[in-house]
Amino acid sequence: MELREALGRRRSIRFVKTYKNVEPEKIQMMFEAARIASHWGNVQSLGAVAVHRETASQEVLDSLEATIVGWQVKIAPVVIVWYVDPEMVEEQSDRLRQLMDVGALGFGTKEERLQALEETLIPVFSSIKESLKQPGLNEIDCGQGIAQATLMAYELGLGTCCLGSPFGDRMFKALGIPEHCRFLLLQTVGYPLEHWEAGGQRPRQEFGRLFKMNSYDQPYPRSEEVVDELKRDKMFTRPAPLPDREEELALLQKALDIDPPGLL
Ligand SMILES: Cc1cc2nc3c(=O)[nH]c(=O)nc-3n(C[C@H](O)[C@H](O)[C@H](O)COP(=O)(O)O)c2cc1C
Repeated sequence: MELREALGRRRSIRFVKTYKNVEPEKIQMMFEAARIASHWGNVQSLGAVAVHRETASQEVLDSLEATIVGWQVKIAPVVIVWYVDPEMVEEQSDRLRQLMDVGALGFGTKEERLQALEETLIPVFSSIKESLKQPGLNEIDCGQGIAQATLMAYELGLGTCCLGSPFGDRMFKALGIPEHCRFLLLQTVGYPLEHWEAGGQRPRQEFGRLFKMNSYDQPYPRSEEVVDELKRDKMFTRPAPLPDREEELALLQKALDIDPPGLL
């Protein structure tokens, strides 16, 4: 499938088939996609533990369910706990040397590049190492990895939904994730039970409110021709709410015995 269509059809899928397990090979493919995402200095601070409902211990499963959106976690065959490991920043110098070695970084002859790296780039990065471990840049790069994993999941016919949780500590304990890591989010994974449109394309902020040209007060021009092209390429699909969404939701909740049906 073309990238544009995949971007358009990918959306948060909350209702999944409880009777159909997700093959570990597919989760591996999601992780492979996350692993090749860009990261500043090639540091790669994104990590994850995939919890397979079928094989995980009850203690681990219980720790995941302590979220605000418990029902989604309860029905998903796989829940990925994504985290950031800021201590990976300790390896930044070597990761930069690696990039230099393979010709990805800098310009000039190899000797000149090496000199610039050792005398300028590495000392600069080293001097701000502790601040680079703080929430910020690493999380952005983790987001890129999770986005790539999400698209891979979509391409494999899986549905996923990202979930925040204030109970990262409890999960870390049950899963043995080191305390210095920071919890990012949960991602439920399963085969979609709802129609792929899931009620239609979810609403978004106005384009011009988000994106500007040359200055903050200049909304980026939005060409209708471009919008039409993206519609033709199926990046934009029918907007939510689709006419039968309420009936679909009622049926899904009944089928999955979600009680009580709630906001989340
Ligand atoms: C970091 C992150 C956290 C999210 N947390 C939740 C959540 O706790 N519960 C939930 O139902 N959806 C959650 N979502 C899903 C968003 O609400 C979703 O993006 C929104 O419904 C738009 O739908 P779409 O992904 O289908 O386009 C989260 C998404 C992201 C990226």
